[in-house]
Amino acid sequence: MAGRFAGKVALIAGGTGGLGRAVSGAFLREGATVAVTYRKKEEFDALAESAGAAADSLMGFVADVTDEAAVAVCVGTLLAHHERLDVLVNAVGGYAGGVPLWETGANVLERMLTQNVRANYVLCGAVASGMVKAGSGSIVNVASRAAFDHGAGAAAYSASKAAAVAMMNSLAADLKGTGVRANSVAPGIIDTPMNRKSMPQADFAKWPKPEEIAQVILFLCSDAARLINGATVPVYGDA
Ligand SMILES: NC(=O)c1ccc[n+]([C@@H]2O[C@H](COP(=O)([O-])OP(=O)(O)OC[C@H]3O[C@@H](n4cnc5c(N)ncnc54)[C@H](OP(=O)(O)O)[C@@H]3O)[C@@H](O)[C@H]2O)c1
Repeated sequence: MAGRFAGKVALIAGGTGGLGRAVSGAFLREGATVAVTYRKKEEFDALAESAGAAADSLMGFVADVTDEAAVAVCVGTLLAHHERLDVLVNAVGGYAGGVPLWETGANVLERMLTQNVRANYVLCGAVASGMVKAGSGSIVNVASRAAFDHGAGAAAYSASKAAAVAMMNSLAADLKGTGVRANSVAPGIIDTPMNRKSMPQADFAKWPKPEEIAQVILFLCSDAARLINGATVPVYGDA
């Protein structure tokens, strides 16, 4: 299939989630072979269904991406099948908030750090050396506006997303001169079914669509962004 990513292989962690499925669909439409990690079979089936004929270029791995051994198996299997990995997008993450720090146990902080920092650390650790050996590759992590705007009721979430940005910046410095790049996008809010359900009174028209954010991610992974390493791109839209 023709497209910006024809002949390329992309691993989309959380590639069946609210944002992830739009990212997976966009890479498939641009001709990539796409592997997603997922946990719910019905989400993978829905992605495959929506991909139409491009579903032939889609594979899925059931995995907890905070588990180093499980991620090593995914990446090893992917490389055994396709002999290359050009892109990693991490769309795995989680949110906890809405209450002050003193009403939030340290277990919530640990969960946020696990989902929003450890997952990406494990994923980057599994793919980076192969990309460096190949002399090319692009990694994008989905951070959050909360990494910079530290509002009330989000101490654990903000701390985890700020740490995620710092981690990607440091990784980008590690990668300097290797041909591999690491960047982040920072959404404010995204027009996902989950957000519509939890904020039914909001003006959805102002919320960036997952497909719009996916396009920014695709750009960062494309050759057109070869000068960009260590950036965090705000994708707030008008929200
Ligand atoms: N939605 C927003 O408004 C918004 C705003 C700013 C930033 N973000 C960030 O954008 C990213 C994607 O968010 P989203 O709205 O698409 O969330 P989502 O729909 O919950 O998608 C996240 C995906 O990650 C998966 N996941 C979570 N922990 C995992 C683990 N340990 N191993 C494997 N998969 C795991 C989830 O699977 P399960 O469903 O099985 O848990 C889900 O499929 C997150 O990093 C989020 O913080 C979102």
